Amino acid sequence: MGHAEPRPQGRRTTKLAVVGAGSVGATMAYAALMRGAARTVALYDINAAKVEAEALDIGHGIQFMPMADVVGSDDIEVCRDADVVVVTAGAKQKPGQSRLDLAQATVSLVRTMLPQLVEVAPDAIYVMVTNPVDIVTYAALKVSGLPDNQLFGSGTVLDSSRLRYLLHRHTGVAVQNIHAYIAGEHGDSEIPLWSSASIGSVPLTEWPGMIGPDGRTTGRLEPADREKIAEEVVNSAYRIIAGKGATNYAVALAGSRIIEAVLNDENRILPVSSLLQDYRGISDVCLSVPSVVGRQGVQARLEISMSDDELQGLQRSAHALRDVARQFGL
Ligand code: LAC
Repeated sequence: MGHAEPRPQGRRTTKLAVVGAGSVGATMAYAALMRGAARTVALYDINAAKVEAEALDIGHGIQFMPMADVVGSDDIEVCRDADVVVVTAGAKQKPGQSRLDLAQATVSLVRTMLPQLVEVAPDAIYVMVTNPVDIVTYAALKVSGLPDNQLFGSGTVLDSSRLRYLLHRHTGVAVQNIHAYIAGEHGDSEIPLWSSASIGSVPLTEWPGMIGPDGRTTGRLEPADREKIAEEVVNSAYRIIAGKGATNYAVALAGSRIIEAVLNDENRILPVSSLLQDYRGISDVCLSVPSVVGRQGVQARLEISMSDDELQGLQRSAHALRDVARQFGL
Protein backbone atom coordinates (compact mmCIF):
# COMPACT_ATOMS: atom_id res chain seq x y z
CA MET A 1 0.00 0.00 0.00
CA GLY A 2 1.46 3.41 -1.05
CA HIS A 3 2.46 6.01 1.50
CA ALA A 4 -0.24 8.53 2.34
CA GLU A 5 0.47 11.82 0.62
CA PRO A 6 1.61 14.47 3.14
CA ARG A 7 -1.39 16.47 4.31
CA PRO A 8 -1.70 19.62 2.12
CA GLN A 9 -0.64 22.67 4.14
CA GLY A 10 -4.09 24.11 4.84
CA ARG A 11 -4.81 27.11 7.07
CA ARG A 12 -2.47 26.86 10.06
CA THR A 13 -4.54 25.52 12.96
CA THR A 14 -4.60 27.27 16.33
CA LYS A 15 -2.66 25.92 19.27
CA LEU A 16 -3.30 26.60 22.95
CA ALA A 17 -0.73 25.57 25.56
CA VAL A 18 -1.89 25.30 29.18
CA VAL A 19 0.95 25.29 31.71
CA GLY A 20 -0.01 23.42 34.88
CA ALA A 21 -2.22 20.31 34.98
CA GLY A 22 -3.74 21.00 38.38
CA SER A 23 -7.50 21.46 38.79
CA VAL A 24 -7.46 24.94 37.18
CA GLY A 25 -5.22 23.98 34.25
CA ALA A 26 -6.97 20.69 33.49
CA THR A 27 -10.41 22.30 33.74
CA MET A 28 -9.25 25.17 31.53
CA ALA A 29 -8.02 22.75 28.87
CA TYR A 30 -11.38 20.96 29.09
CA ALA A 31 -13.41 24.21 28.93
CA ALA A 32 -11.41 25.52 25.95
CA LEU A 33 -11.91 22.25 24.08
CA MET A 34 -15.63 22.06 24.86
CA ARG A 35 -16.01 25.64 23.56
CA GLY A 36 -13.97 24.89 20.43
CA ALA A 37 -11.51 27.62 21.38
CA ALA A 38 -8.47 25.95 19.78
CA ARG A 39 -7.75 23.11 17.36
CA THR A 40 -4.88 21.74 19.44
CA VAL A 41 -4.58 21.94 23.21
CA ALA A 42 -1.24 21.04 24.77
CA LEU A 43 -1.14 20.49 28.53
CA TYR A 44 2.29 20.88 30.16
CA ASP A 45 3.28 20.03 33.74
CA ILE A 46 6.48 18.79 35.40
CA ASN A 47 4.44 15.91 36.89
CA ALA A 48 4.49 13.46 33.95
CA ALA A 49 1.98 10.98 35.38
CA LYS A 50 -0.54 13.71 36.20
CA VAL A 51 -0.31 15.63 32.92
CA GLU A 52 -0.47 12.48 30.80
CA ALA A 53 -3.45 11.20 32.77
CA GLU A 54 -5.33 14.52 32.45
CA ALA A 55 -4.66 14.70 28.70
CA LEU A 56 -5.71 11.08 28.24
CA ASP A 57 -8.89 11.48 30.27
CA ILE A 58 -9.89 14.56 28.22
CA GLY A 59 -8.70 12.93 24.96
CA HIS A 60 -11.03 9.98 25.49
CA GLY A 61 -13.88 12.44 25.04
CA ILE A 62 -12.81 14.27 21.89
CA GLN A 63 -15.51 12.50 19.93
CA PHE A 64 -18.03 14.56 21.91
CA MET A 65 -16.46 17.99 21.38
CA PRO A 66 -15.71 20.30 18.44
CA MET A 67 -12.87 18.92 16.31
CA ALA A 68 -9.65 19.10 18.30
CA ASP A 69 -6.60 17.26 19.55
CA VAL A 70 -5.24 17.25 23.07
CA VAL A 71 -1.76 16.21 24.19
CA GLY A 72 -0.02 16.24 27.55
CA SER A 73 3.66 16.09 28.46
CA ASP A 74 6.25 16.98 31.08
CA ASP A 75 8.49 18.13 28.19
CA ILE A 76 8.14 21.88 27.57
CA GLU A 77 8.57 21.13 23.86
CA VAL A 78 4.84 20.32 23.87
CA CYS A 79 4.24 24.11 24.11
CA ARG A 80 6.31 24.86 20.98
CA ASP A 81 4.80 27.44 18.60
CA ALA A 82 1.62 27.82 20.65
CA ASP A 83 -0.54 30.81 19.67
CA VAL A 84 -1.68 31.32 23.26
CA VAL A 85 0.07 30.14 26.42
CA VAL A 86 -2.01 30.15 29.62
CA VAL A 87 0.00 29.81 32.83
CA THR A 88 -1.90 28.22 35.74
CA ALA A 89 1.00 26.48 37.53
CA GLY A 90 1.71 27.61 41.07
CA ALA A 91 0.89 27.29 44.73
CA LYS A 92 -2.76 26.80 45.76
CA GLN A 93 -4.51 29.10 48.22
CA LYS A 94 -5.10 27.27 51.52
CA PRO A 95 -8.32 27.96 53.45
CA GLY A 96 -8.16 31.51 54.80
CA GLN A 97 -4.91 32.29 52.93
CA SER A 98 -4.92 35.43 50.75
CA ARG A 99 -3.74 35.37 47.15
CA LEU A 100 -0.92 37.81 47.98
CA ASP A 101 0.39 35.27 50.54
CA LEU A 102 1.34 33.07 47.56
CA ALA A 103 3.63 35.70 46.02
CA GLN A 104 6.94 34.34 47.35
CA ALA A 105 6.45 30.87 45.82
CA THR A 106 5.00 31.98 42.52
CA VAL A 107 7.37 34.83 41.70
CA SER A 108 10.34 32.44 41.87
CA LEU A 109 8.43 29.94 39.73
CA VAL A 110 7.83 32.67 37.13
CA ARG A 111 11.50 33.62 37.13
CA THR A 112 12.42 30.02 36.19
CA MET A 113 9.56 29.15 33.87
CA LEU A 114 8.96 32.22 31.67
CA PRO A 115 12.32 32.27 29.85
CA GLN A 116 11.89 28.57 29.03
CA LEU A 117 8.38 29.16 27.67
CA VAL A 118 9.37 32.19 25.59
CA GLU A 119 12.18 30.09 24.13
CA VAL A 120 9.68 27.59 22.62
CA ALA A 121 6.80 30.02 21.99
CA PRO A 122 8.26 33.52 21.43
CA ASP A 123 5.26 34.81 19.46
CA ALA A 124 2.50 33.50 21.71
CA ILE A 125 0.10 35.70 23.60
CA TYR A 126 0.67 34.91 27.29
CA VAL A 127 -2.23 34.84 29.77
CA MET A 128 -1.17 34.53 33.41
CA VAL A 129 -3.76 32.93 35.72
CA THR A 130 -1.47 31.83 38.58
CA ASN A 131 -2.08 33.79 41.79
CA PRO A 132 -1.44 36.44 42.90
CA VAL A 133 -2.17 37.08 39.24
CA ASP A 134 -1.42 40.83 39.21
CA ILE A 135 2.01 40.34 40.81
CA VAL A 136 2.70 37.28 38.65
CA THR A 137 1.79 39.26 35.51
CA TYR A 138 4.11 42.11 36.52
CA ALA A 139 6.94 39.66 37.29
CA ALA A 140 6.38 37.75 34.05
CA LEU A 141 6.56 40.97 32.01
CA LYS A 142 9.82 41.95 33.73
CA VAL A 143 11.40 38.50 33.37
CA SER A 144 10.27 37.80 29.81
CA GLY A 145 10.89 41.26 28.35
CA LEU A 146 7.73 40.78 26.26
CA PRO A 147 5.75 43.88 25.25
CA ASP A 148 2.85 44.81 27.54
CA ASN A 149 0.22 43.86 24.98
CA GLN A 150 1.62 40.34 24.52
CA LEU A 151 1.53 39.25 28.17
CA PHE A 152 -1.31 39.97 30.58
CA GLY A 153 -3.31 38.35 33.37
CA SER A 154 -6.83 36.96 33.70
CA GLY A 155 -7.34 39.68 36.32
CA THR A 156 -10.91 40.41 37.38
CA VAL A 157 -12.68 38.73 34.45
CA LEU A 158 -13.68 36.05 36.97
CA ASP A 159 -14.67 38.57 39.66
CA SER A 160 -16.79 40.51 37.15
CA SER A 161 -18.49 37.25 36.20
CA ARG A 162 -19.22 36.59 39.88
CA LEU A 163 -20.62 40.11 40.25
CA ARG A 164 -22.92 39.62 37.23
CA TYR A 165 -24.05 36.23 38.55
CA LEU A 166 -25.01 37.72 41.92
CA LEU A 167 -26.76 40.68 40.26
CA HIS A 168 -28.67 38.23 38.08
CA ARG A 169 -29.71 36.26 41.18
CA HIS A 170 -30.77 39.46 42.99
CA THR A 171 -32.67 41.11 40.15
CA GLY A 172 -33.89 38.13 38.13
CA VAL A 173 -32.57 39.73 34.92
CA ALA A 174 -30.64 37.51 32.45
CA VAL A 175 -26.91 37.68 33.17
CA GLN A 176 -26.30 38.60 29.50
CA ASN A 177 -28.10 41.91 30.09
CA ILE A 178 -26.07 42.85 33.15
CA HIS A 179 -23.02 44.98 32.37
CA ALA A 180 -20.81 45.55 35.39
CA TYR A 181 -17.08 45.35 36.02
CA ILE A 182 -14.85 44.68 38.98
CA ALA A 183 -11.55 46.56 38.60
CA GLY A 184 -8.21 46.68 40.40
CA GLU A 185 -6.55 43.73 42.13
CA HIS A 186 -7.86 40.22 41.59
CA GLY A 187 -8.02 40.02 45.33
CA ASP A 188 -9.08 41.71 48.57
CA SER A 189 -8.66 45.31 47.33
CA GLU A 190 -10.75 44.90 44.15
CA ILE A 191 -13.54 47.41 43.51
CA PRO A 192 -16.94 47.24 41.78
CA LEU A 193 -17.48 49.99 39.18
CA TRP A 194 -21.10 50.70 40.10
CA SER A 195 -21.18 54.14 38.49
CA SER A 196 -20.73 52.75 34.96
CA ALA A 197 -22.77 49.55 35.46
CA SER A 198 -26.08 49.07 33.66
CA ILE A 199 -28.92 46.58 33.38
CA GLY A 200 -30.05 46.62 29.79
CA SER A 201 -29.73 50.31 29.07
CA VAL A 202 -30.81 51.34 32.57
CA PRO A 203 -28.01 52.68 34.82
CA LEU A 204 -27.66 50.08 37.58
CA THR A 205 -27.93 52.69 40.32
CA GLU A 206 -31.36 53.65 38.89
CA TRP A 207 -32.65 50.09 38.52
CA PRO A 208 -36.31 50.22 39.64
CA GLY A 209 -36.68 46.48 40.26
CA MET A 210 -39.29 44.39 38.48
CA ILE A 211 -43.03 44.17 39.22
CA GLY A 212 -44.01 40.52 39.62
CA PRO A 213 -47.39 38.85 38.85
CA ASP A 214 -48.46 39.62 42.44
CA GLY A 215 -47.90 43.32 41.81
CA ARG A 216 -44.91 43.44 44.18
CA THR A 217 -41.64 45.09 43.09
CA THR A 218 -38.58 42.89 43.67
CA GLY A 219 -34.85 43.05 42.93
CA ARG A 220 -34.22 46.71 43.66
CA LEU A 221 -30.55 47.50 44.27
CA GLU A 222 -30.31 49.80 47.26
CA PRO A 223 -26.79 50.82 48.41
CA ALA A 224 -26.98 48.17 51.16
CA ASP A 225 -27.77 45.49 48.55
CA ARG A 226 -24.81 46.60 46.41
CA GLU A 227 -22.53 46.57 49.45
CA LYS A 228 -23.59 43.01 50.34
CA ILE A 229 -23.10 41.79 46.77
CA ALA A 230 -19.65 43.40 46.54
CA GLU A 231 -18.67 41.72 49.82
CA GLU A 232 -19.86 38.36 48.50
CA VAL A 233 -17.77 38.77 45.33
CA VAL A 234 -14.57 39.56 47.23
CA ASN A 235 -15.11 36.56 49.53
CA SER A 236 -16.26 34.07 46.86
CA ALA A 237 -12.94 32.26 46.50
CA TYR A 238 -12.42 31.95 50.27
CA ARG A 239 -15.90 30.41 50.61
CA ILE A 240 -15.40 27.92 47.76
CA ILE A 241 -11.87 26.97 48.87
CA ALA A 242 -13.20 26.33 52.40
CA GLY A 243 -15.84 24.05 50.94
CA LYS A 244 -14.04 22.13 48.17
CA GLY A 245 -10.34 23.00 48.48
CA ALA A 246 -9.98 25.07 45.29
CA THR A 247 -11.91 26.95 42.66
CA ASN A 248 -11.70 25.69 39.07
CA TYR A 249 -14.86 25.86 36.96
CA ALA A 250 -15.55 29.61 36.68
CA VAL A 251 -11.87 30.58 36.43
CA ALA A 252 -11.48 28.03 33.62
CA LEU A 253 -14.49 29.41 31.77
CA ALA A 254 -13.20 32.96 32.25
CA GLY A 255 -9.84 31.81 30.87
CA SER A 256 -11.50 30.20 27.87
CA ARG A 257 -13.40 33.43 27.15
CA ILE A 258 -10.04 35.30 27.10
CA ILE A 259 -8.43 32.64 24.89
CA GLU A 260 -11.32 32.90 22.39
CA ALA A 261 -11.04 36.72 22.34
CA VAL A 262 -7.38 36.34 21.33
CA LEU A 263 -7.62 33.44 18.89
CA ASN A 264 -10.76 34.77 17.17
CA ASP A 265 -9.40 38.32 17.22
CA GLU A 266 -12.67 39.46 18.81
CA ASN A 267 -11.65 42.89 20.20
CA ARG A 268 -13.75 41.88 23.20
CA ILE A 269 -13.87 44.19 26.21
CA LEU A 270 -12.62 42.26 29.25
CA PRO A 271 -11.22 43.46 32.62
CA VAL A 272 -7.85 41.73 32.26
CA SER A 273 -4.78 42.62 34.31
CA SER A 274 -2.12 44.45 32.32
CA LEU A 275 0.67 46.95 32.84
CA LEU A 276 -0.81 50.41 33.38
CA GLN A 277 1.21 53.50 32.43
CA ASP A 278 -0.35 56.86 33.26
CA TYR A 279 -3.83 55.35 33.45
CA ARG A 280 -5.87 57.93 35.42
CA GLY A 281 -2.53 58.82 37.09
CA ILE A 282 -1.62 55.16 37.83
CA SER A 283 1.68 53.81 36.44
CA ASP A 284 4.07 50.86 36.64
CA VAL A 285 1.65 48.33 38.12
CA CYS A 286 -0.45 45.48 36.72
CA LEU A 287 -4.12 45.54 37.61
CA SER A 288 -7.47 45.13 35.90
CA VAL A 289 -9.42 47.74 33.99
CA PRO A 290 -11.83 47.08 31.09
CA SER A 291 -9.57 46.50 28.06
CA VAL A 292 -9.92 45.56 24.39
CA VAL A 293 -8.57 42.01 23.88
CA GLY A 294 -7.84 40.63 20.40
CA ARG A 295 -5.20 38.73 18.41
CA GLN A 296 -2.44 41.12 19.58
CA GLY A 297 -3.43 40.65 23.23
CA VAL A 298 -4.32 43.81 25.17
CA GLN A 299 -4.92 46.35 22.40
CA ALA A 300 -6.38 49.21 24.48
CA ARG A 301 -7.21 50.05 28.10
CA LEU A 302 -10.50 51.93 28.37
CA GLU A 303 -10.48 55.04 30.56
CA ILE A 304 -14.11 54.50 31.55
CA SER A 305 -15.78 57.06 33.80
CA MET A 306 -15.38 56.38 37.53
CA SER A 307 -16.71 58.04 40.65
CA ASP A 308 -14.17 59.62 43.01
CA ASP A 309 -14.62 56.66 45.41
CA GLU A 310 -13.98 54.18 42.61
CA LEU A 311 -10.86 56.01 41.45
CA GLN A 312 -9.54 56.18 45.01
CA GLY A 313 -10.24 52.44 45.34
CA LEU A 314 -8.26 51.77 42.17
CA GLN A 315 -5.36 53.85 43.47
CA ARG A 316 -5.47 51.92 46.79
CA SER A 317 -5.33 48.69 44.83
CA ALA A 318 -2.34 49.98 42.87
CA HIS A 319 -0.48 50.95 46.07
CA ALA A 320 -1.15 47.55 47.66
CA LEU A 321 0.16 45.72 44.60
CA ARG A 322 3.18 47.99 44.13
CA ASP A 323 4.18 47.47 47.77
CA VAL A 324 4.10 43.68 47.31
CA ALA A 325 6.01 43.88 44.01
CA ARG A 326 8.73 45.92 45.72
CA GLN A 327 9.14 43.22 48.41
CA PHE A 328 10.25 40.84 45.65
CA GLY A 329 12.61 43.26 43.97
CA LEU A 330 10.27 43.76 41.00
C1 LAC B 1 -10.48 32.59 42.35
C2 LAC B 1 -9.04 32.24 42.09
C3 LAC B 1 -8.83 31.80 40.68
O1 LAC B 1 -10.78 33.77 42.56
O2 LAC B 1 -8.19 33.35 42.41
O3 LAC B 1 -11.31 31.68 42.28
